[in-house]
Amino acid sequence: MQTIRTALNLQTITPSMTLAITAKSKQLKSEGKDVIGFGAGEPDFDTPEPIKQAGIKAINDNFTRYTEVNGTMALRQLICKKLKEENNLIYEPKNIIVNSGAKHSLYLALCAVLNPGEEVIIPVPYWVSYPEMVKIAGGVPVFVQTTAKNGFKMTQDDLEKALTNKTKMIMINSPSNPTGSVYTKEELEVVANFAVKNNLLIMTDEIYESIIYGDVKHVSIASLSEDIKKNTITINGLSKTYAMTGWRVGYAAAEEDIIKAMSSIQGHTVSHPASIAQKAAEAAFSLDKSVVEDMVAQYDERRKYMMKYIDDEIKDLSYIMPDGAFYLYVDISKTFGKTYNGVKINCALDFASALLENYLVAVIPGEGFCTYEYIRLSYATSMKNIIEGLKRIRDFLNQ
Ligand SMILES: Cc1ncc(COP(=O)(O)O)c(C=O)c1O
Repeated sequence: MQTIRTALNLQTITPSMTLAITAKSKQLKSEGKDVIGFGAGEPDFDTPEPIKQAGIKAINDNFTRYTEVNGTMALRQLICKKLKEENNLIYEPKNIIVNSGAKHSLYLALCAVLNPGEEVIIPVPYWVSYPEMVKIAGGVPVFVQTTAKNGFKMTQDDLEKALTNKTKMIMINSPSNPTGSVYTKEELEVVANFAVKNNLLIMTDEIYESIIYGDVKHVSIASLSEDIKKNTITINGLSKTYAMTGWRVGYAAAEEDIIKAMSSIQGHTVSHPASIAQKAAEAAFSLDKSVVEDMVAQYDERRKYMMKYIDDEIKDLSYIMPDGAFYLYVDISKTFGKTYNGVKINCALDFASALLENYLVAVIPGEGFCTYEYIRLSYATSMKNIIEGLKRIRDFLNQ
């Protein structure tokens, strides 16, 4: 028998379910099948031209050597300006670290603050990587089950129940992947007061902040008071706002002790994010706002189309209206116990597999986000795909 050589703390890590379904749908596509994908976790738009040109210029200017570990001063200054103007947060460059994507920022921040066995409160449904990152960093994820009735948001009661003497941090993701829900200022105040009272850190993942609809406003929890700011690590990045997923640029803003700890891990592991991507990021912060507004307007149009189509045509499905991000979290529980194409549906995974195999529509089953009664439909895909994909879902359920 072969001995297990990989580290013990990795034995409970599960691969990302969103990536697994995407891989299956890619495989079907490569076999020439006409798959409609609602799985994408990234904008379907190309990176805006001025950003691409800045990347090309960086190469031509030979901006291709090591940079400062925390990212260039110019980029960190632009991030400070952005945080001040858009988030009402005053930080200096020493409070900022630029990393290879917000995912990397989240992971480094967890490694920087967690001691073995310390607990991190994570609201369910959550973005797939949070609990796994906590575990890799030596912490223990503690789940708080939110409800559709509360718009999938944590309440004071939820937090009280999850609190133990090992609790170190609360994770919050607004706008949320997968539900699209956005915390109001008042709801954030509840979380902030709880954190301050119990001396907990807050990790706020604000990667979808600019993809927001109607009159809804994004509020950064760290902007609520000086006390909460001291306890908060704000995470953001350029992937979603500027359609820059492959460039890998994310950042964290926090008190200097936390940034220093993150910096020492980054310095000894990856040194810094790619120099070329940093130059492209500088251009992103200088981009005309209308470019992003135009993308958001298109997401909004798709969002409204999907909600209306489900209301009018697919009686067995329902959803909570998303106020942000580009996902519709769809309740499929009415299909449970019914048989479609010879497959009895008992959970979201059954639903997603049957739909992909028989109707070539890829959706992300809720199990990946720790809820088995939901599927996630991304509308970061063309209107043409959305129209065809929804028709196929209707036909699947009409059998
Ligand atoms: C909630 C959330 N946070 C962070 C990330 C990671 O973003 P990045 O591409 O900057 O690593 C994603 C990407 O899907 C996400 O959905």
